Amino acid sequence: EKQGFKHFMLKEIYEQPGVVRDCLEAYFNSDWIANDSNVAPINLGLPPEIYNDVEQIQIVACGTSWHAALIGKYLLEHLAQIPTQVHYASEFRYAPSPLTPNTLIIGVTQSGETADTLAALEMEKERRKEQQPKFQARLLGITNRPESSLGRMLPNIINTLAGIEIGVAATKTFVAQVMAFYALALDLAYLRKTVSSAKLQEIINGLRQIPGEIEGLLETQEKYIEELVHEFNETKDFIFLGRGINFPIALEGALKLKEISYIHAEGYPAGEMKHGPIALLDEKVPVVAIAMPGTVYEKVISNAQEAKARDSRLIGVTPIRDGEAGDIFNDLIPVPAVDELLSPILAVIPLQLLAYHIAARRGLDVDQPRNLAKSVTVE
Ligand code: F6R
Repeated sequence: EKQGFKHFMLKEIYEQPGVVRDCLEAYFNSDWIANDSNVAPINLGLPPEIYNDVEQIQIVACGTSWHAALIGKYLLEHLAQIPTQVHYASEFRYAPSPLTPNTLIIGVTQSGETADTLAALEMEKERRKEQQPKFQARLLGITNRPESSLGRMLPNIINTLAGIEIGVAATKTFVAQVMAFYALALDLAYLRKTVSSAKLQEIINGLRQIPGEIEGLLETQEKYIEELVHEFNETKDFIFLGRGINFPIALEGALKLKEISYIHAEGYPAGEMKHGPIALLDEKVPVVAIAMPGTVYEKVISNAQEAKARDSRLIGVTPIRDGEAGDIFNDLIPVPAVDELLSPILAVIPLQLLAYHIAARRGLDVDQPRNLAKSVTVE
């Protein structure tokens, strides 16, 4: 069933354009025309009561789903102007935030079986039940398995449509979770009129280009990355830098690498480097910098320059080319320039390939890494 791919993980990486297409088709209304109020642009099939007067959002998740939630927070705050917090489910269980009124609680779990995430949601449901109506829980699950324990626990679900994922390292389910957050944030932004119709249209048009852009990336990058990883046969540590909406992608790139290649890797918000982690850098520690055009583009470039000055090999995930500011990078993994809000879903692709090829080259069991299970059903 690997359809010619060496591992399920690689097959699943290649399924991502199709997953994004399926999410676009399911969540976005192709009949919507800006300024036509008869049709809504997004249809998630959720009851309006869970949204209406929401004043804040709390998200609980673990691992890669927690990274998707961080991107969700950026989108919800930026597009819908709703203050949003993201919690590790395992922390929230024992140190929940104070109750706030009119709060939407979102649990993100691809398997729908992660014990900590289920327990955090159950706890929140119970403690809110005991309070006044305005504290009562509005609960929403984002899952790839609507038939799971999460699906049975919560009446309101966004189904992420990635199909079954076999590789332990989450790839296509992550991309689908991010798509669910685009749809959710844009729906709330539309209902609250926090973005103009023109901007909404522009973002939706941009999202429609994403599947083709991922296909292009896979076509042009995979061989290059497979070659590039020869440089890292001896590498023991990697640093990933990103900022803003791509900070979670730095975390995700580092997590993918550590879980399947067993290389020590850390993701940092690039501006934090100078507050300590920069002491780690030398010629043995490569730095992957995610530099996508937008608010923090120049900032990431100058943070990358600081790493270069410590002799780190610098790998750029960026649309910049050689001869421009791209000269600072030892290796360039080009990614198309898109609206900053859409950039994480492209930037993550080369990082998945990088982790995959490093692990595959080391002869490791990519689909079944040591010590890990596909779903963590114990606390
Ligand atoms: C990483 C990975 C894990 C999961 C985490 C949560 O590649 O797969 O970090 O993301 O265990 O799993 P779900 O989303 O099933 O709750």
